[in-house]
Amino acid sequence: MIGENVTEAIPSPKDSHRRATPVDVLEDSVLIKRGAVQLFRLVQLATELAAAPDLDALLRTITEGLTRLLVATRTTIYVYDEKTGEIWSRVADRLEIREIRLPLGRGIAGQAAKTRQLIHVPDVSKSEHFAPEIDRKTGFVTRSILAAPMLNMKRELIGIVEVLNKKTWTFTEDDEELLRLFASYAANAIEAQILEEAMRRRERMAAVGALAGSIVHDIRNMAALVNGWIDLIQPGAAAGTGSTREIVDVVHGEIDKMVDLTEEVLDFARGIEGQVVPHRVDVDRTLQDVLRVLEREFQINGVKLEFVPGGAGPAKLDVRRFRRVVLNLGQNARKVLPRGGTLKVTTRRDPEKKTCHIEFEDDGPGIPDAIRPRLFTPFTSAGEHGGTGLGLAICKSIVEAHGGTIGVRDRKPQGTIFEISVPGDTIGASGQYPLDKA
Ligand SMILES: Nc1ncnc2c1ncn2[C@@H]1O[C@H](COP(=O)(O)OP(=O)(O)OP(=O)(O)O)[C@@H](O)[C@H]1O
Ligand SMILES: [Mg+2]
Repeated sequence: MIGENVTEAIPSPKDSHRRATPVDVLEDSVLIKRGAVQLFRLVQLATELAAAPDLDALLRTITEGLTRLLVATRTTIYVYDEKTGEIWSRVADRLEIREIRLPLGRGIAGQAAKTRQLIHVPDVSKSEHFAPEIDRKTGFVTRSILAAPMLNMKRELIGIVEVLNKKTWTFTEDDEELLRLFASYAANAIEAQILEEAMRRRERMAAVGALAGSIVHDIRNMAALVNGWIDLIQPGAAAGTGSTREIVDVVHGEIDKMVDLTEEVLDFARGIEGQVVPHRVDVDRTLQDVLRVLEREFQINGVKLEFVPGGAGPAKLDVRRFRRVVLNLGQNARKVLPRGGTLKVTTRRDPEKKTCHIEFEDDGPGIPDAIRPRLFTPFTSAGEHGGTGLGLAICKSIVEAHGGTIGVRDRKPQGTIFEISVPGDTIGASGQYPLDKA
């Protein structure tokens, strides 16, 4: 505790050295009974934790169980992200599934993470550390907080567990003790689950890699064959005019997409870092070319595709791979947009940072809350479209292999905006920029 008072609601059994009166005995027996019930609930919760099938279920079990155990209103778990030095919340309870990030030291949870101490704040209005922006974000009104660091066996920080608003008066010393005890147990359960998920993911990726490797080769050969046959059926069709030529173009295009897709999975499973072969290209022109591939698909589905180039300038891109990012983002939007919906692709250059920015803005239903925190990780998919959930993970790995970033935000009043930024290449004093040959 740091300088905050705990108001005890019930007398401590430590006072029992006085001569016991019938009232004392009665109180003691009530306390013992209450303690036994708490202990029983704690053991029950520990058993439930052990049975949780995945990290989401585990975090949900902890938050719901602790809220019940400590007779509170809500529990939030923050996971410590070693890479960024922040703590972030992935699941709180059924009402709160948005991601909240706090640097160490910010808010009560951030303080508990920084000091690695249990912190009890009976009244947040009197606390200098309370961060009101979280309440503003979630619409929840916090009155009191009990926050404990979750440390693993090696005393490393795994996260913070924060219990809010004791329903009966205020949190007691017993509550503090119970939370302290539970936090270390939860830390180990969470760590084990994170490790297991990473292992499961690696195994899955290895399996996908092996499978993709064996079929990519065959598919490439078959595609070359089919392409050859099409040209044979209709000699000179590719050079012809009108509908025949259009049909042949579409079939060739679809076959290319199929080959691309299988290669994409293979690339991803093997990891594409170090494999990127960038060339100096004009970002706007490259985008224009790739978006043309999507035009027909959008047209058939009655979805508008707008391109508003804003002079993004040159960048070093592996066009074949960058194409996949654009196709993935385009197809994702197309899948969720109803007839009449719009995907607008815009570009701009940040002259100060020398970066190229591309935005994919749609007026669709928005990213489902349930998958938001895991959006760019493999096998995250939602909706009835039956995706594998690899698209955005692939986009992220490709953009990052170019030294860029990809992010997502909500569009007002509705829809989603994906933003990509990549380092721009130099532009001469005259404003001219010669490009590499394709
Ligand atoms: N523009 C968008 N608007 C709303 N939801 C989206 C949008 N883009 C992606 N999503 C959601 O994110 C999920 C993950 O997308 P991702 O591209 O990673 O996988 P997928 O499209 O489901 O499968 P795959 O791309 O592997 O075929 C989608 O299932 C969809 O629910
Ligand atoms: Mg997709």
